Amino acid sequence: MSKIYVLNGPNLNLLGAREPDVYGSLSLDEITAALSDRATSLGIEVACLQTNSEDQLIQWLHEAFAEKAPVILNPAAFTHYSYALRDACAVLTTSGIALIEVHLTNPHARESFRHNSVISGVATGVVAGFGVDSYLLALEQLARH
Ligand code: DQA
Repeated sequence: MSKIYVLNGPNLNLLGAREPDVYGSLSLDEITAALSDRATSLGIEVACLQTNSEDQLIQWLHEAFAEKAPVILNPAAFTHYSYALRDACAVLTTSGIALIEVHLTNPHARESFRHNSVISGVATGVVAGFGVDSYLLALEQLARH
């Protein structure tokens, strides 16, 4: 069974309680459950992880690189300024390991500081604006390849 990392960045542990009018009412546990169910039906193992730490996200990307495992990444606010995270993502994608950037919301339809992603330029693809379906679409895309 192939393995995919699903990595979530800062403040996503508060989904459900955090700005529900923006991010919806689903908790991260509920999103993880939906992903795990879909992964099981696709015959994929998912490791769903969340941290508020840039350092920890980079460590997990290094683990994915070592395991040659594709990644679904919601970098949250790090999307907009973390060059260290961008470099860690590039380690994977320049080696042919897929990394899909996902967002619950469409950052381009929000505040101007969210319009730029330093991650997108090194991601395999981006899915944004579909809530939990952003993650499920990314999973299905990875399953196809
Ligand atoms: C987000 C969008 C980011 O701008 C924001 O900082 C987040 C969540 C999203 O999933 O829509 O924390 O990545």
